[in-house]
Amino acid sequence: MANQPPRELWGTRLGFLMAAIGSAVGLGNIWRFPAVTYENGGGAFIVPYLAALLTAGIPLLILEYTLGRRYRSSPPGATRLVARPAEAIGWWQVVICFVIAAYYAAILAWSVRYVGFSLNQAWEDNPDGSEAFFYNDFLKIAETPGDLSTFVSGIFWPMLVIWLVTIVILALGVRRGIATANKIGIPLLVIFFLILVVRALTLDGALDGLDALFSPDWGALGEGSVWVAAYGQIFFSLSVGFGIMITYASYLHRRSDLSGSALVAGFANSSFEILAGIAVFAALGFLAAEAGTGVGDVVAGGPGLSFVMFPQIISEMPMGALFGVLFFASLVVAGFTSLLSIVQVVVSAVEDRMGLSRQAAVFAVTVPLAVISIALFSTGSGLYVLDVADHFINQYGIVLAGLALVITVSWVARKLPLLQRDADATSAIALGVWWRICLSVVTPLVLGWMMVDSLSAELDENYGGYDTSFLLYSGWAVAGGALLLGVLLSLLKWRSTPHSPDTERPDAAGPRITKNEGGR
Ligand code: ALA
Repeated sequence: MANQPPRELWGTRLGFLMAAIGSAVGLGNIWRFPAVTYENGGGAFIVPYLAALLTAGIPLLILEYTLGRRYRSSPPGATRLVARPAEAIGWWQVVICFVIAAYYAAILAWSVRYVGFSLNQAWEDNPDGSEAFFYNDFLKIAETPGDLSTFVSGIFWPMLVIWLVTIVILALGVRRGIATANKIGIPLLVIFFLILVVRALTLDGALDGLDALFSPDWGALGEGSVWVAAYGQIFFSLSVGFGIMITYASYLHRRSDLSGSALVAGFANSSFEILAGIAVFAALGFLAAEAGTGVGDVVAGGPGLSFVMFPQIISEMPMGALFGVLFFASLVVAGFTSLLSIVQVVVSAVEDRMGLSRQAAVFAVTVPLAVISIALFSTGSGLYVLDVADHFINQYGIVLAGLALVITVSWVARKLPLLQRDADATSAIALGVWWRICLSVVTPLVLGWMMVDSLSAELDENYGGYDTSFLLYSGWAVAGGALLLGVLLSLLKWRSTPHSPDTERPDAAGPRITKNEGGR
């Protein structure tokens, strides 16, 4: 085993909490949540959403924190110590993070450009409106998905800057780099959000927007797809299933509180999400009132919501430039702190298993990642590849890896009682039997059902109406390749092997500390 320096620590509980919240609050909160809620029963969606948060989101968050802190290793090392073959799950999560980071940086680059476009409402130069501006002038979207021949310099430069800043922050380390970036980013985000919400709520038509978002369609609760959407949203939004929380928790002090931190991070994430929903729908209500149409006519999912509808709102409202700058800057800050956490999973896996120094691992990971990300997403096909890769890696990457992890920990390795004692020894809130039931029974059943449901929808109809061949190489091959690569990487012999505390006696049940010492 290569000699490695002692593992870096967060320093303070605040540093860890800020980083965990920074990872969770991201693009998923700002553009995904409002549209998902609207499309899945409006106010009634809160029922499956809360069920997903309490039965899967928070329990999995606690599981990932406990695994990371106990085994003090990135996902491949931590899962290997759960059960040797499970190392494949850890590597699978690492590859998933590599894929997500590649396209996540592209959306950040669009947001950076739109901060600038908001200042002079650049989309007004296109007589066909903000939609034509986004797809044609800005993205220079290719006619055929998969045509990579158009180089888009307007995306290339901001992507380059984003990757350079990411490299510098990650090279600075967990405490000086990631914790500091989040301690600056999260308060900024809170300020931006509060201004956005107050401004949006004081616009004409705001209440109609909120009415559209929150009017419950109770009938939707009978549809399986609504429940699938709620669990999918919670996984993506809370950053569970990616291995991020295993990684972040591996830098925790042995005595740090786990379940209390998971509750704080989970509820902070949901609060941001609900605030984002309020701001976005109040603004859409205003747009509908200006256009004299219903709110339903101005709602769009995915990139259309932020990059097509918001420019229209900005053009229509008084002091729209300021609103636009704050909205896109929120996307940049929220997305950037999430990107740091996603890339950190890959960096820490390489650092831990290859025995490299932190800086060497950062360069070994981020240089190829940045090259692939920029080469693919600063082309006219970037949006198509992003859309398909995002769908497949979420459905058949994050959720499936999360399912494999809970089944392995609870049924194969049977480590839940050990992990529960470990968490309880230092946490302000003791985990009850509900935690083990949620992880070993509820989560596997719901996620298993989700898989069957979404696979059958996939086979019935091509996702997004794309050609089968395009879906095969940018969707199925990406998701299947991530799993295959995960298995292959787990079979390699790495320079550094993590050490298991489970075989140490008499400490096998976790750190010998009392409850009163917890809470760091
Ligand atoms: N949790 C992150 C988000 O919501 C990945 O975007």
